[in-house]
Amino acid sequence: MIPFNKASITDLEVKYVTDALLNGKSSGDGRYTMKVYEEFKNRFGIERMLLTTSGTTALEMASILADIKPGDDVIVPSFTFSSTANSFMLRGANPIFCDIRRDTMNIDETLVESLITPKTKAIYTVDYAGIPCDMDPINEIAKKHGLIVIEDAAQAVGSKYKGRYAGTLSEFGCYSFHETKNYVMGEGGGIVINDPSYMDRAEIIREKGTNRRQVLNGLVDKYTWHDIGSSFLPSDVLAAIMYGQMQRYDEIMEKRMFVWNSYAEELKDLEKEGKLVLPVLPDYVEHNAHMFNIILPTAKIRSDLVYKLKEKDVYAYICYVPLHSSPVGIKLGYKPETCPVTEDYGERVLRLPLYADMTKDDVAKVIELIHEYL
Ligand SMILES: Cc1ncc(COP(=O)(O)O)c(C=O)c1O
Repeated sequence: MIPFNKASITDLEVKYVTDALLNGKSSGDGRYTMKVYEEFKNRFGIERMLLTTSGTTALEMASILADIKPGDDVIVPSFTFSSTANSFMLRGANPIFCDIRRDTMNIDETLVESLITPKTKAIYTVDYAGIPCDMDPINEIAKKHGLIVIEDAAQAVGSKYKGRYAGTLSEFGCYSFHETKNYVMGEGGGIVINDPSYMDRAEIIREKGTNRRQVLNGLVDKYTWHDIGSSFLPSDVLAAIMYGQMQRYDEIMEKRMFVWNSYAEELKDLEKEGKLVLPVLPDYVEHNAHMFNIILPTAKIRSDLVYKLKEKDVYAYICYVPLHSSPVGIKLGYKPETCPVTEDYGERVLRLPLYADMTKDDVAKVIELIHEYL
């Protein structure tokens, strides 16, 4: 069986988890959490990241920090996971769905300005498939109109935009370390606080609205309630898994890149014959081999291919069902034609199996079956 995803876990992660359980503490902000921060600082130059219980809660924290309020409008691509929109809808804001680019399937930055209203507060970008959005024009538009930008970099840990790491490209970057991502802690995430003035509030929001962190840092001797917040910090046992993953960062990246490059090379002939479209990498991007998507000519060809692969125990995955035409989107009054590119791609994109421990034979089998069917 070839699943679409499988986390790469070794004895190293098991050793750290056991140590965290037996010799550390199992609640949050312990030894392993601090070690993860060191790794992000040394590897990506990220000075301020807070681990969270998920990518979803990282986005929720960012929405509180951005002071998103009831009645605000928020621009967001429709081609994303529900969490991106839920995070600000939980604060009472309205999604203004933006269509995507035909090449990267990221938010179409040329449409963003036309969607701004007097109520617009923020732009949420999504680095789909680990390929960062074209952030410079988006940040410029935001600056011109006094908006805040939140980068949903759930899939983009380690990717770069013009030499800068995804997650560091606007006020807040949100990562996911869910087991389907490149680097995992079961369920988990991280919020990158790129503007230091937000850091104190972020620590309070993450600790149920209290200044408990200041007690741990020896700055005050008792803690109390200062703000709204929730239990956004993960167990140190989960951070121990993440520490192991960060120590294996290069190994995991290289193995994923092998799979990604094999697909790109071995499916090129089918693209030349017009039977599918391969991922497009703009020259400003260095990607992290998070996903390999192919675009099939029709919805029917996609569903037939999914079925044929499944018959041979190979699990390809239909990625996002567009948000604007989902039951929630329809209830909000959106029509499928609001985002025509998203609607079209939502029916034709297929995500192939990709994980670090995929063998050469597994990759060859997927490639062969695609050739056979197409
Ligand atoms: C773009 C995007 N945003 C947010 C999330 C949510 O992350 P998590 O599953 O860690 O809550 C995901 C996860 O699938 C995602 O792909």
